[in-house]
Amino acid sequence: MAIIAFANPKGGAGKTTSALVLGTQLAAKTRVAVIDADPNHPITDWAKLPGKPDTLTVLGDIGEHNVVEVIDAAAEDHAFVLVDLEGTASTVVAYAIGRADLVIIPLQAKQLDGKQAVRAIQLVKRQEKAFRRRIPHTVLLTRTSAAIRSRGLRAILEDLQAAEVNVLGVELIERGAFDAFLAYGGTLDQLDRKEVSGVDKAIENARAYAAAVVQLLRDNERADQDHAAQGGQAR
Ligand SMILES: Nc1ncnc2c1ncn2[C@@H]1O[C@H](COP(=O)(O)OP(=O)(O)OP(=O)(O)O)[C@@H](O)[C@H]1O
Ligand SMILES: [Mg+2]
Repeated sequence: MAIIAFANPKGGAGKTTSALVLGTQLAAKTRVAVIDADPNHPITDWAKLPGKPDTLTVLGDIGEHNVVEVIDAAAEDHAFVLVDLEGTASTVVAYAIGRADLVIIPLQAKQLDGKQAVRAIQLVKRQEKAFRRRIPHTVLLTRTSAAIRSRGLRAILEDLQAAEVNVLGVELIERGAFDAFLAYGGTLDQLDRKEVSGVDKAIENARAYAAAVVQLLRDNERADQDHAAQGGQAR
């Protein structure tokens, strides 16, 4: 069981898209709960459209009073619990990060500035202090171009590396298919290839992204076990 929160106080960073891409990918193999903790309820809206996999449960009506309970209850009978958070720093965001096994910090490559990246990461670092535990987190670059890597983006990546921030090896490339499946409902697989271009490339990207997240969770678990075996305490 793993709890994964998607957090970035910046609106439009790609939280909802990356949560739903991961959720639908994982749901092809196992039971997944996606907690829609955004008052604009984008994932609840998606779930009302046809084509949602039966293995994916969407839970809404989330607030400060129930977010921790809903996460814990979902974790009882789902292999993965994903939490899509709103684009502000709120108590709900803090509670969800506090509960997470992994925080994915989507950064939108197109309008990225170094300060924004730092702010998003600080949000997690503050929770680490507050809860006195390590909270594994990784940056996911979103809406990147398959071909172009701007100098600004390269510089930010170097800064993140220098600060020893984990950056996921797979990026979510800018593709109409990611936009479309959110709007039309269902999964990437169900998109009409005559209407939407690049569906298969998007699926390939989604698979690689999900595999990278699962691998990171495994690596973290192993690091915890090694740490415990050496007499330290697991996080
Ligand atoms: N990889 C992508 N390819 C194409 N469009 C994308 C991609 N990622 C995000 N988008 C689009 O960018 C916009 C913002 O993305 P999204 O809603 O996922 O961000 P968010 O961080 O959840 O925003 P908010 O803070 O408002 O909740 C949406 O219109 C979405 O469809
Ligand atoms: Mg969102």
